Amino acid sequence: ELSSRVTHDLRNPLNSLKMAIEILKTKKPEMIKENQEYFDMMQHAVLRMNHQIDEVLGFIKKSPPKRANVKFSEIISKSLESFQFPKNIKISVSENDGMIWCDKNQLQNVIVNLISNSIHAIGKKDGKIIINFQKEKKFDKITVEDNGDGIPDDSLDAIFEPLFTTKQTGTGLGLVSCKNTVEAHKGEISAKNLPTGGVIFTILLPKADVE
Ligand SMILES: Nc1ncnc2c1ncn2[C@@H]1O[C@H](COP(=O)(O)OP(=O)(O)O)[C@@H](O)[C@H]1O
Ligand SMILES: [Mg+2]
Repeated sequence: ELSSRVTHDLRNPLNSLKMAIEILKTKKPEMIKENQEYFDMMQHAVLRMNHQIDEVLGFIKKSPPKRANVKFSEIISKSLESFQFPKNIKISVSENDGMIWCDKNQLQNVIVNLISNSIHAIGKKDGKIIINFQKEKKFDKITVEDNGDGIPDDSLDAIFEPLFTTKQTGTGLGLVSCKNTVEAHKGEISAKNLPTGGVIFTILLPKADVE
């Protein structure tokens, strides 16, 4: 299978590189100190490549969701584990909790994608990311909101297209993967600019008893 080959062929050499940097750190600390910025560049590049691989794989791998009832708060806390939040960004998660009928890993990936886009959109300003959860009649509603730069109105239709990116190192695969996942759950995802600046993404997932 293509995706497992990509994983194997790209991740293994990347891991070797990462390990080699770690070994140098312990064996040659003075050398690292003298060349700190170059080592930082290397480490940053490794992280970025891992991230790109994740996005490409997330797009290629379209397995049907294996659904179960999962707690909203659990999905969010797992998603947040994969970030080191910059100090300028505050994150707030709704106290509202409840069960969602979904594939836990797949929905986690969606949330991670949205949060990483928000972090990017906020950049170095002081910013906040607000994650909300609401049970509605037929749907469970999750929103991810930020006060970043927002999306130019003429791009709003394009952001869910494969390969659409405004970032120098973007893949343009994050949101299309989110959309694929949500639609595989028979749900909907949409984006809206906020009057105050920033964007709100809304995910609607059908409740278990709706199907
Ligand atoms: N929270 C956001 N705020 C502003 N723009 C966004 C946000 N999320 C996505 N976008 C826009 O949508 C584009 C596509 O996002 P995505 O599919 O995740 O690809 P990538 O992150 O690799 O660019 C981004 O390049 C950006 O222009
Ligand atoms: Mg993205």
